[in-house]
Amino acid sequence: MKARTAMVFQLGLFSPNTESGLAITTVPERWRATWDNNLRLGRLADEVGIDFLLPVARWTDWGPHTDFHHSVLDPLTWATGLLAHTRRLRIFTTVHTAFHHPVVAAKQLATADHVSGGRVGLNIVAGWHAPEYQMLGLSLPDDHDSRYALAQEWWDIVKRIWSSAEPFDHDGRFFQLKRVIGNPKPYNGHSIPIINAGSSPQGRSFAARNADRAFTVVGGPQDGAAVVTAIREEAATQGRTVGVYTLGHVVCRPTRRQAEEFLAYYSDEHADWPAVDEVMRLQGLHAQSFTPQMLQTYRGRFAAGHGSCPLVGDPDDVADQIAAFAAAGFDGIALSFLNYTDDLGYFAAEVMPRLQTRRIHTGPDIASSP
Ligand SMILES: Cc1cc2nc3c(=O)[nH]c(=O)nc-3n(C[C@H](O)[C@H](O)[C@H](O)COP(=O)(O)O)c2cc1C
Repeated sequence: MKARTAMVFQLGLFSPNTESGLAITTVPERWRATWDNNLRLGRLADEVGIDFLLPVARWTDWGPHTDFHHSVLDPLTWATGLLAHTRRLRIFTTVHTAFHHPVVAAKQLATADHVSGGRVGLNIVAGWHAPEYQMLGLSLPDDHDSRYALAQEWWDIVKRIWSSAEPFDHDGRFFQLKRVIGNPKPYNGHSIPIINAGSSPQGRSFAARNADRAFTVVGGPQDGAAVVTAIREEAATQGRTVGVYTLGHVVCRPTRRQAEEFLAYYSDEHADWPAVDEVMRLQGLHAQSFTPQMLQTYRGRFAAGHGSCPLVGDPDDVADQIAAFAAAGFDGIALSFLNYTDDLGYFAAEVMPRLQTRRIHTGPDIASSP
């Protein structure tokens, strides 16, 4: 892995493949995850200097009484389509290791990498969402150890396919495979960068062993600094360096008052509270992305941006809030907006130059090989 370049901080967009993005709200301005909207967004993001796009893999909805995530574009097909229509940014796809066979996924990812000249990335999800397992006729293992053991075996097979010139057999705990071979390999011999966003001890240690980037939800830059240190220290025990990223939802308007009023409009007055409560209930049952304390106090943050950090105010406020994450040691942040295409132009025109003047340089990949 390449060494970290000082001051480089990456900006990404999170979840535009999902209806309503990360905002659990009923307002009509919310994001519509059509292909046309995503295509416009991908081209705009490429043009204004956004570094990466990150989808959400969601197979079921959140129940009959909500539109939130009612429609979700498949992340791999979405990423491959957008990679064909963009020139510069990295586009991640997301796989659930319990749902995607590693031999199939290795070929699909290598193909997307060729489509884009080496710009695909992979978010590996070990799984947590019990209704999706049930929909697929599977059961979610109760223990994190089994979930991450499967994820490790899955990733070891994919890596071996990408590096083996010769067929191999695999006789493991979860997969027994004969004469495995896969071509093409990833584009031009390079490695596809890996994300992991697990927050349990098993998830953190999976990221330390395997990932180029660890994504983590934090309360803000203050508590985030300790999380960055902990993740880096765990990676160092494996002799590795891992970039640490977090999430934020942006409401940026010419004045702070306008931004706060708009935030209150969509995430309080018109929040989709039944869906907020269902998302938080399921997160609390099976995932450790949010601490119990976060799940007791973050109802508003869930309505505004699925529990991510608020980046709210005028352009100086928002630039200061992002700069604080860079100062806390983060390597980047994945952003969401109520309506990505309506809001990204203003963010690019007003906030991104202010980041430059704060000596926060958005820039090229810091991590591209394990
Ligand atoms: C940035 C980010 C992206 C994620 N993307 C997905 C996703 O697309 N699909 C999904 O089911 N879970 C997703 N998750 C959930 C985690 O990857 C992980 O499965 C969850 O945190 C449970 O693992 P843990 O208990 O180890 O934290 C995401 C989490 C974060 C923070």
